Amino acid sequence: MTAPQTPPDRLTIRRPDDWHVHLRDGAMLAAVAPATARQFARAIVMPNLVPPVTDVAAAAAYRSRILAALPGGADFTPLMTCYLTDATDADEVRRGYAEGVFAACKLYPAHATTNSAHGVTSIAHIAPVLEAMQAVGMPLLIHGEVTDPAIDIFDREAVFVERVLTPLLADFPALKIVLEHITTQEAAAIVLANPERLGATVTPQHLLINRNALFAGGLRPHAYCLPVAKRERHRIAVRRAATSGARNIFLGTDSAPHVVEAKQSGCGCAGIFSALTALELYAGVFDEDGALDRFEAFASENGARFYGLPLNAGTVTLERGALAVPEMLAAGDSGVVPFRAGETLGWRMVG
Ligand code: DOR
Ligand code: ZN
Repeated sequence: MTAPQTPPDRLTIRRPDDWHVHLRDGAMLAAVAPATARQFARAIVMPNLVPPVTDVAAAAAYRSRILAALPGGADFTPLMTCYLTDATDADEVRRGYAEGVFAACKLYPAHATTNSAHGVTSIAHIAPVLEAMQAVGMPLLIHGEVTDPAIDIFDREAVFVERVLTPLLADFPALKIVLEHITTQEAAAIVLANPERLGATVTPQHLLINRNALFAGGLRPHAYCLPVAKRERHRIAVRRAATSGARNIFLGTDSAPHVVEAKQSGCGCAGIFSALTALELYAGVFDEDGALDRFEAFASENGARFYGLPLNAGTVTLERGALAVPEMLAAGDSGVVPFRAGETLGWRMVG
């Protein structure tokens, strides 16, 4: 037996990517985009704007607005996604991918989450689009929750895996699929069982909190996102999968900013804003689990390989040390409360 190695105090890894982020638009985009661009070389940008990004022209225009919101000299590539609706045209998707505008398509089941009203009501409606994506190797990114009001909200992901994802894998045997922001043992299991063509992103919050966090001493709107955090046994299953070294599981923050008034409300929006300290949050998890040697694959390699994109050049460095998470990030006339606001993290990015 070899002696356990002392974990390092400094970690230099290949520049990472965020395979799932919400950058919004306007004043919010200006407030949050620099944070993502500081930590990541590329990010898969979600298309759930109002109105949603459903065609090539809208995605190209949004990409320009994102680049315009970055500080001069930022080296960051937004990877755009197409919001699927029942009416999405397969030719538009094919063209967007061929022209290098769309990196992937996003499937929101209609009414599953924020700005998903135009989402897909049945997989049958998008079968021609999925055939086209399968033919060219374009990934389908899925918000994996059923919307049936009869299904308990804490079961919606597991039921999706059984009712929708399992048949989808069978019906489109060559389609590359990413199950986004996994939160359950059932999701982790199906991802681990299909390493070739099913990937998953994992958020910092689903590694760090269980559903108790929503009710700790009172209602906690800043711990609320969708899919909602589940029981502790699910958190542990997701965390084991993420830190296991599985090559089809990768970093995707799902950083989803809402102004503080929209979160602290009688009907608070779903979404956790983690972009300011995403890498530090993840590094802390891998450190706690004795898996820092697997952090680079999760953050900087697995996603690019799954998407068929080159690995980034350059590095980032994190070191062990106190990092205070701000109480608020200013955004236009308002502000956004970050995940772990006011707390101190144990890692910080230093270069
Ligand atoms: O919590 C969430 N917020 N989950 C989503 O799926 C959407 C996101 C948002 O756009 O705010
Ligand atoms: Zn999201």
